[in-house]
Amino acid sequence: MSTSPADPHLPAVHLRPPRNWINDPNGLAFHDGHYHVFFQYNPHAPVHTQVHWGHYRSPDLVNWEPQPIALTPTPGGYDADGCYSGNAVSDGSRMVAFYSAHRNDRWWQPVTSAESRDGGLTWTKRPDLLIPTPPDGATMYRDPYVWREGDRWRMLVGASVEGDRGAAFLYESADLEHWHHRGPFLTDDDGHAPGTGGWTGWECPQYASFGEQGALVVSLWDAVGGPRDVRVYVGSEDDGAFTPTAHHRLDHGPDFYAPALLPAPDGRWLLWGWSWEARDAAWSDEAGWAGTLTLPREVTLTPDGRVHQQPAREILKLRGPRTIHLPEQTAAPEGLDLGEVGPAFDLTARLRPSTREPGGLRLSTAPGEHLDITLDPAAGELVVDRDHASLDPRARPGRYRLPLPEGTDPGSAVDLRVVVDGSIVEVYLATGEALTVRCYPTGTPPWRLHTLGPVHLAVEAWNLVAGSRTAPLEHSAALAA
Ligand code: FRU
Repeated sequence: MSTSPADPHLPAVHLRPPRNWINDPNGLAFHDGHYHVFFQYNPHAPVHTQVHWGHYRSPDLVNWEPQPIALTPTPGGYDADGCYSGNAVSDGSRMVAFYSAHRNDRWWQPVTSAESRDGGLTWTKRPDLLIPTPPDGATMYRDPYVWREGDRWRMLVGASVEGDRGAAFLYESADLEHWHHRGPFLTDDDGHAPGTGGWTGWECPQYASFGEQGALVVSLWDAVGGPRDVRVYVGSEDDGAFTPTAHHRLDHGPDFYAPALLPAPDGRWLLWGWSWEARDAAWSDEAGWAGTLTLPREVTLTPDGRVHQQPAREILKLRGPRTIHLPEQTAAPEGLDLGEVGPAFDLTARLRPSTREPGGLRLSTAPGEHLDITLDPAAGELVVDRDHASLDPRARPGRYRLPLPEGTDPGSAVDLRVVVDGSIVEVYLATGEALTVRCYPTGTPPWRLHTLGPVHLAVEAWNLVAGSRTAPLEHSAALAA
């Protein structure tokens, strides 16, 4: 297995343990002076089975300390086949994790909980399930999300209901112990997943309130295609029922799912997503790992009701030397060599079309292998093209489109930020849209940057240097026991 840090596809800045499987971020909470990030984790193999809750913590979102595994399936118990997704809250003295108890012999994953009184080092599971059965009419049921509002605790659970529609059920509690079912918070009115014929369910509902307004984030799952993409509804709530005024896709890339929210102590909403592999399973097995979390993102609401995302401002602290600095050009010639950067880097660019033709940047680590990021003024889109990003046929190709905000003048400049780290690429528009994509070049970084097509551009790029990471998670006492 090529599991050493020399694996050029293994992210250095993005959170994930050095080996094995991860999926959703879970239980994001601020407790005892630390940000806690838990995540779906199989510590034994790079495949999704027997998922545990892995755990990192950080005082500053820069330096991360791997922690002992928090939750492990109990053989023969209510979560024998997996401690599935959920979240955690701090009530000051303890952290309480709410999660989905998975058994292969049950179609639903009932809600249960565990608590920690030592900052997340050790956890005690409740002896019985917290909410043993789904409400009538549910055909899928999992992924609790708990938050505090005034003097009560509230919980959403992801579901599908009759008519093949995604839904989130609402519960309330005064003490985190006794929960009262209020009914559906929101039900999808779209029904079937377009083009699949499968039924749709909502996984991992998350809720952020912004004063009078709220944002409900749901991960769309369909019975045929499995996990699909992430939608956010913006609207307001009246006595347990949420009324959306708009919805949009949260991330326009192919490799982003199951994001989770963390209310930071300074009032910010932070969000991490799961970015799955876009290469075949045999290659992940050989590499010994699969999946990564995205960067932490700051999430805000725009006055016109869109969710706006940018990398958390702390990521700026990871910038090392600036290796590319190009002031605004009148018209860069095709193929202009802009310099090299990486292996992990943070880039900002201003692209302004010089004709109606697409133009932008080409990033490559070897001849014949390139990831292209271009502005298509006629279509009003930023296009990320990984069709030739890897010479290895086991890497998935594809072209992805990030629509510019409605009303963008086709001749105007577009500001973007691109963070590349191993095999994950996150693209952000300054207007708040995001696109996450994986790519697996066979060449070895640094990356060389060129212009592609006709374009006016300004570019700056910095190497990224990860903050500290202490002992690998696998050395935790909990796993050794
Ligand atoms: C989302 C998801 C959740 C589930 C977990 C299992 O990716 O399917 O619905 O709880 O992953 O790992």
